[in-house]
Amino acid sequence: MLKITTLLGSPRRNGNSEQLAAAFAKGASASGHTVQTVRLHTLKIGGCIDCRRCWMNGTHCFLHDDMADIYRALDSADVFVFAVPLYFYSWPAQIKPVWDRLLPYYMPDSKVDIKGRRAVLLAVAGDESASCFGGLSKSFELACGFCKWEIAGEIYANGVYAAGDIASGDWLARAEALGRGLQS
Ligand SMILES: Cc1cc2nc3c(=O)[nH]c(=O)nc-3n(C[C@H](O)[C@H](O)[C@H](O)COP(=O)(O)O)c2cc1C
Repeated sequence: MLKITTLLGSPRRNGNSEQLAAAFAKGASASGHTVQTVRLHTLKIGGCIDCRRCWMNGTHCFLHDDMADIYRALDSADVFVFAVPLYFYSWPAQIKPVWDRLLPYYMPDSKVDIKGRRAVLLAVAGDESASCFGGLSKSFELACGFCKWEIAGEIYANGVYAAGDIASGDWLARAEALGRGLQS
């Protein structure tokens, strides 16, 4: 049984990426995995300030904000799921600080090792061409390489603009199948 942490990067409640994440969670739960879902938009998470004081006060980061909850969730998860809309060919502002604040895990004196975990990207975009995801997919690939995470699945749903568009086509079925197929 796997512990899965899903980070919702969209400010839009019950939007396309959230529905994709819900379908993934349905499949994963059916296979006996547990899924914790965190909506980033309601949290206060600042950007990394490059103070190089990771772990100095006994915790991951010197900043005191809601990233503490994310650290807790990431510390114990086997699989990280990033569910995001494409914003200007890249990550939405809600999730970018989370990536940057992973730095403590990769400092030489890190107290928690999250290398070897698995990561999934569920992305949606309004553009009709799947090529719009080129920058995001490269960023995900490089970031997972740096973090030493295995990519356990990627869904890039293009042509999905208005809330609810994700229901047309087979995107939700594909996300559910991806979740169901995760092996412990
Ligand atoms: C600020 C902003 C930037 C966007 N940038 C892009 C983009 O670069 N390419 C694209 O295809 N769609 C873009 N979109 C459209 C969203 O990706 C699309 O509406 C998506 O379905 C929203 O997902 P959500 O319902 O999970 O929020 C943008 C939307 C917003 C609000």
